[in-house]
Order: sequence, then C-alpha cells, then structure tokens
Amino acid sequence: MKIKWTSDLSVDVKEIDGQHKELFKRINNLDTAMKKGRAKEEILGLIEFLDEYVVIHFRTEELYMIRYDYPRYPFHKTKHAWFKKEFSVVRKKLEKEGPTPEVIILSNNLLITWFSGHIRTTDTALGAYLRPKLARI
Ligand SMILES: [Fe+2]
Repeated sequence: MKIKWTSDLSVDVKEIDGQHKELFKRINNLDTAMKKGRAKEEILGLIEFLDEYVVIHFRTEELYMIRYDYPRYPFHKTKHAWFKKEFSVVRKKLEKEGPTPEVIILSNNLLITWFSGHIRTTDTALGAYLRPKLARI
C-alpha cells in the first residue's frame, strides 16, 4: 500500500513534518520493493534507517512537548515507547532469522499501523496544540 503525505497531516513544525515525509518515502520504497520482489534487499537498509530514525524523531517531538508544556506528553511518550518495543522485536527477528517474508510483512504492517494510528491522530493532535503557540513567536 502506497501512502501519501498530505497537508492535513502537517504538525506545522518543519523539522517534524520533514521527518514524517522521510518515513513515508521509506514506507513507499518498501512497498515498491515488495511488488518487484526486491524486499529482501530493501528491508536491511530500512531497519538500519529506522534504528536511528526512531531515536532522533521521537526525541524531536518530545522536546517540543516539553518546551511547550504539552499536557498529553506522558500519553504521547507511551505511544513512542510502544513503537520502540515493537520495532525492537522486528529487529531482533531480522538479526536471528534474516530477511524472511515474515520479517518483511511484520515491518510493513508495523509501519502502516503507525502511520494510520499515530501520525494521523496523535501527532496531528500535538500539531493542533503547538500551532497557536508557535504562531505567537
Ligand atoms: Fe509522535
């Protein structure tokens, strides 16, 4: 499934939107690779990318939450922790079993679930909170 970044997903913070767009690109690359039978090659690079990405991206969002006193910070943080945990399960499976079809499907499902459940709802809620505060600066 291809996903498209649209302006309704914007949190109006350039840095965060840029990171989300990068993630979308990677999810779509995996989708293309799966269709072309090249997913085994793609998955290794994707997991390596995500390893660094989750740390940097979640830290960026959480810094904004702290800086602007976001009341839902504890809740949002638990969602990030959930993703990190799920991601580490997939990564360990990849390390142990190699790029099997199961690992590829697990990765794809995790990212699609994340996109529809987190970016679309939890992150846009953060954007709605930050918007008036950032507009005042
Ligand atoms: Fe988030």
